[in-house]
Amino acid sequence: MADKKTAKLVLPDGKEATLPVIVGTEDEHAIDVRSLRQDTGYITLDSGYMNTGSTTSAITYLDGEQGILRYRGYSIEELAEKSDFVETSYLLINNHLPTKAEREEFGRLLTRHSLIHEDMHQFFAGYPPTSHPMAVLSAMVTSLSAYYPDSLERNSDTEMHITRILSKVRTIAAFAYKKSIGQPLMYPKNSLKYCGNFLHMMFAVPSEDYAISPVLEKALNQLLILHADHEQNCSTSTVRMVGSSGANLYAAIAAGILALWGPLHGGANQAVIEMLEEIKAAGGDYKKFIDDVKNKRDNRRLMGFGHRVYKNYDPRAKILKKMCDEVLQHLGIKDPLLEVAKGMEEIALKDDYFVSKKLYPNVDFYSGIIYRAMGIPTNMFTVMFALGRLPGWIAHWKEMVEDPQTKIGRPRQIYTGEKVRKYVPIEQR
Ligand code: CMC
Repeated sequence: MADKKTAKLVLPDGKEATLPVIVGTEDEHAIDVRSLRQDTGYITLDSGYMNTGSTTSAITYLDGEQGILRYRGYSIEELAEKSDFVETSYLLINNHLPTKAEREEFGRLLTRHSLIHEDMHQFFAGYPPTSHPMAVLSAMVTSLSAYYPDSLERNSDTEMHITRILSKVRTIAAFAYKKSIGQPLMYPKNSLKYCGNFLHMMFAVPSEDYAISPVLEKALNQLLILHADHEQNCSTSTVRMVGSSGANLYAAIAAGILALWGPLHGGANQAVIEMLEEIKAAGGDYKKFIDDVKNKRDNRRLMGFGHRVYKNYDPRAKILKKMCDEVLQHLGIKDPLLEVAKGMEEIALKDDYFVSKKLYPNVDFYSGIIYRAMGIPTNMFTVMFALGRLPGWIAHWKEMVEDPQTKIGRPRQIYTGEKVRKYVPIEQR
């Protein structure tokens, strides 16, 4: 990265501000306004951060016009095909693919730290059966900091906390599910790999043997890889923001989980299935639903479509659409929701409303159909997204705390309220 050029800003009083231009590895350009307020008294205003870079980052490259996504320089297509989730997590966090020895040691640590404190089991019992698993997950992740209080200290063992959180969130997610359906909690099994172990904790019962399907294990690895990072999205920015105050890793990740929950972000995978089910229940007329969306009736949106950055087909959705066919075929499932989804996509890709706004399927459009086929209930889909996004959140948290330039996140505002007024006693109002 080099400062090549400068930009000039002419202010209303005729004064000029000269601002450095920053150029990234892939020739992305930014005007560096860090000295703007100090030099001129002005701030920039950019609601939704449509034009604002909050940081430089060496983790993920995303070109929304071309539909390109790379983690640490490796294409998402290649990682989804050749890597597994643990290796991709290592890559995101450590900036290189692990050697055989590094991979083995990382896998060993994740296996050794998969149990949660027995006392935490009681927490699950305290939630009503109707609890959304994202509420349980975020609370449990915050609670981990109570069990590892050294995480609050300045020089705590960061690597150990990273290992713990990566391993234990998987256990918490599966336990939350088991509790919600009233089945006994299944402890992790050290002989199993990361994704296989998750399937075991989710679907095994103590009374019978459970054989892990290699096809589902591979599919889960791929799903989690596709979700593993997506640069400065809403939840990742939240993790950085919370972490910038010096809050511990567990607190920052719990905040990220909560940001992910919303239906415009990770909650969209649940919303997509609910939308498809609603259409099917109403007789399957998806053309009418699309008309409603175009007419903004009840502010409906085609969930799983559109993206702040992608103005082209989301490369993750492309992989997922193919996976969807493969997994359903392997399981011998014919899901009518898949037919509805494909029909809607076909119409939307030709319709001027969606074409002119550059709205394409995103990662959430097809992922839910695969989770559904795997037997994962709809309200767990966003938990699955959180599990996948963990290494990305961790990598960004680590990059942020290790960067000497990091400052507490604290945006400015333009005040539009009343000017100073005198307090009026209640009898006189
Ligand atoms: N269906 C119908 N119209 C849409 C959609 C959609 N899914 N998405 C955007 N639009 C329209 C929107 O109404 C607006 O139209 P107009 O210019 O007439 O007012 C225009 O497109 C621009 O939309 P925007 O809301 O200003 O765009 P944004 O960049 O702020 O929002 C988004 C991005 C992802 C929130 C939005 O596309 C959306 O709500 N999509 C549906 C929810 C969804 O699938 N979210 C998952 C995103 S990918 C995974 C993740 O990030 O977690």
